[in-house]
Amino acid sequence: MLDQVKALLEEVDQSVVGSKEELEQFRLRFVSRKGVLGELFDGLKTVEQANRRAVGQELNELKNKALERFQQFSDAIESGQNGQQGPAVDLTLPVVPNSTGTQHPLSLVRQRIIQIFERIGFNVADGPEIESDWYNFGALNFPENHPARDMQDTFFVAKSPVSQSEDLLLRTHTSNVQIRLMEQRSKEETFRPIRSIMPGRVYRNETISARAHCQFHQVEGLYIDRNVGFKDLKDTLYHFVKEMFTKDTKIRFRPSYFPFTEPSAEIDISCQICHGSGCNICKHSGWVEIAGSGMVDPQVLINCGIDAEEYTGFAFGMGIERITMLKYEVRDLRLYFENDVRFLKQFEGL
Ligand code: PHE
Repeated sequence: MLDQVKALLEEVDQSVVGSKEELEQFRLRFVSRKGVLGELFDGLKTVEQANRRAVGQELNELKNKALERFQQFSDAIESGQNGQQGPAVDLTLPVVPNSTGTQHPLSLVRQRIIQIFERIGFNVADGPEIESDWYNFGALNFPENHPARDMQDTFFVAKSPVSQSEDLLLRTHTSNVQIRLMEQRSKEETFRPIRSIMPGRVYRNETISARAHCQFHQVEGLYIDRNVGFKDLKDTLYHFVKEMFTKDTKIRFRPSYFPFTEPSAEIDISCQICHGSGCNICKHSGWVEIAGSGMVDPQVLINCGIDAEEYTGFAFGMGIERITMLKYEVRDLRLYFENDVRFLKQFEGL
C-alpha cells in the first residue's frame, strides 16, 4: 500500500490542469471522498499495526498535497492563466487587419490648392476665426448698416473688449487675413509685395441642407505689387483651374459685385459632372460658379495704409467644399461633417 501511495504522490506532482473540465477530473480523483483517497483511508484498517502509522502519515501527505495542487490549479484558471500551459492564445489564428485612417477629402483638396499656388510663388497666410467687425467688414468697405452685411448671415459673438461699440463675430470669409496682411506689410520700412493664399474655416448662419452649411472652408488669394492688372488675375485663375481640374476645362468671368473689389467678377467653370449635357449640379446650364474675384478697391488699400497710387492688386476667394464637390461628385455638403467612415473610406489612397 505504501508503494501505491508513493505512486499517487508522484502522479499529483506531475498533473497538469489546463481547463475547468480537467480541474474537475483532478478533483474527482484526488480530492473527493469518492476518489482514490477515500478508498485508501478505508483500506488503512487492513494494514498491519506496525506499519499503519507510517502509511497513515504518507496518506495524509498525499491528501494535503492534492488539496494544495487543486487550489493552485483553480486559482490559475480563475485568473485566466491556464495552469502550467500559459495563457490561452491561439497563435495560429489569422490577425485582425489594422485599418488605418484616410485623409479627409477637404484636407486633400486644400493641400492640392496650396500646392498649385505655392508652385507659382504664393505663400500661405493665416488669421483668427473670431474677428472684429473692422477686419471682417469695415476695412473691406462694407459700410455700416449696408445690406451687403446681411448677405453674409453673420454669427455675432460678443462686444469687443477693446471697443465696446465694436462687435466680435465669427469670420464670414477669410478676407480678414488679407486686411491683416496688408496692414502688417504697410508698417514695414519698405513695402514688400504680397502674394499669399489664405485657407481657413468660415462661418455663416445658414440653415443646414445639402447645399448650405453653417461652417465651411475658403481659400482666398491676394496679390499686391506695382502694375498688377486684371490680366494677371485671369492668368492666375486659368492656371489654377487647369491644374485643379483638367486641361480642357472651360472658364468664364462674369461681372459681379463685391464691396472690396472693383471691377469684380465671378468665375464659372464648365460642369465637371455632366460636361455640358445638363445635370442638377449646374442647374442644366453647363456652368458652375467656383470663385469670386476682382481688383482690390483702392479704398481698401488706403484703409490698410498702402499707397494706392503706387500699388494695385487682385484678390479671389473660393469655397473648398464646392471644389471638392466638383472634383469627387459629392452631392451633399453635410457628408463632410458627419464622419461616416463609409464616406471617408472612399478617399483612401488619394
Ligand atoms: N470674400 C468673398 C466671399 O466670401 C469672396 C471674394 C474674395 C470675392 C476675394 C472677391 C475677392 O464671398
